[in-house]
Amino acid sequence: MSKIGVIGAGYVGLTTAACFARLGHTVVCADVDEAKVAALSRAEVGAHEPGLAELVGEGLRAGRLRFVSGNAEALSGVDFVFLCVPTPTGVDGAADLTAVHAVLREARDAVAPGCVLVIKSTVPAGTTERVAELVGRPDVQVVSNPEFLREGHAVDDFLRPQRVVVGAEAEEAAHRVVGLYARTGAPALVTGSASAELVKYASNCFLAMKLSYVNSLAELCERVGADISDVTEGMRLDDRIGASFLEPGPGWGGSCFPKDTRALLSTADEAHVDFPLLRATIGTNGHQPHRVVSMVRDAVGPLAGARLGLLGLTFKAGTDDLRDSPALAVAALLAEEGAKLTGYDPCVSTDCGPVRVLDSPEAVAEGADGLVVLTEWPEFAELDWPNLAAAMTRPIIIDTRNLLPGDKVTEAGFHLIALGRPAQPLIQDQN
Ligand code: UDX
Repeated sequence: MSKIGVIGAGYVGLTTAACFARLGHTVVCADVDEAKVAALSRAEVGAHEPGLAELVGEGLRAGRLRFVSGNAEALSGVDFVFLCVPTPTGVDGAADLTAVHAVLREARDAVAPGCVLVIKSTVPAGTTERVAELVGRPDVQVVSNPEFLREGHAVDDFLRPQRVVVGAEAEEAAHRVVGLYARTGAPALVTGSASAELVKYASNCFLAMKLSYVNSLAELCERVGADISDVTEGMRLDDRIGASFLEPGPGWGGSCFPKDTRALLSTADEAHVDFPLLRATIGTNGHQPHRVVSMVRDAVGPLAGARLGLLGLTFKAGTDDLRDSPALAVAALLAEEGAKLTGYDPCVSTDCGPVRVLDSPEAVAEGADGLVVLTEWPEFAELDWPNLAAAMTRPIIIDTRNLLPGDKVTEAGFHLIALGRPAQPLIQDQN
């Protein structure tokens, strides 16, 4: 078992630290936020990440996990240092590597001979090789080991990964990093560092492309009288396409896809590679909130003064994360047109921009001219529809996640508009 330092206690760093402790390693996890370090040392985990608080508690009790403020202890006396610092969108969409560079400058003089520096933060192809020069220590190897952790499933994704990807110029160091994951039994890919870095972007951008494709198909379905759920069901049966990431929605968001698509486009531009597919993937996604607003306008009428209730505010179900949430993009556009917004989300309790957050779907429905489902929280599929319809001024509901049980909702008197399905009037015309 190894001694591991983890720099950064965000959702990636904290998951990495707690899961490595679970796998039997001894871990020191550092963060600059002293209050966070103090809370984590008491096993208080702020993030909504199933299983993580339990693993942190277990690691602390077993003495295999410690939290420290300041990086010194996580850099010295360890065999591996994992960099899990943010790489946000910087100038022209490129990843901003300021935090990575700062840690490496500190690590240069602090790490012991033989230590392996592992870059887990998402960084553009070529970064690991460049920063290895910056570290400039022949006795210290720098290795890329991208994370593929979904929010809300991070612990499971770490402990039962579909693959472990490690990239390095020094193969021996790469195999040592693979060895840290031995207990997960996951297949490993050892490659050059630029390829490893690109696997991460290639995967996320491919998934984003798949979703933009499905979102455009959904728009087409509405126009030609097809049903997106049936179309994607037909597609899913083809192994070559795969069964997942085919649900249309108000657009993809979160802390990764928007950032990673822009960063890969920036890498392509720098490398003088034209990548129109990726540009269209991003452009199509930017169009989705506008499309949702048109659907609301078509159903409810002029939005100025309209009272609308939003169901779901986070970027997807199973997380409390509001970063780049398409629900908030829709809310901003609705508010711009003068709509009065209330919202309910099981993981959000404070007001979000123009949205007054209430404590139940019923409160949001009270006196509303329309409801808009924006996040696929399963509980929204099981609401008391007759009650909600009775509470509203006009029982109109726009389902952007195709989550609601259509029959029950319409039987309760709702006018239901679902993404990628022919609008109700079209069906009535046909009868
Ligand atoms: C993603 C990657 O999946 C993960 O591997 C990476 O390391 C971090 O980024 P995450 O940001 O947690 O994870 O979100 P994910 O579950 O992938 O969903 C991304 C977006 O796509 C969300 O906005 C979600 O609502 C949307 N989505 C996903 C759909 O609209 N339809 C789908 O079928 C699937």
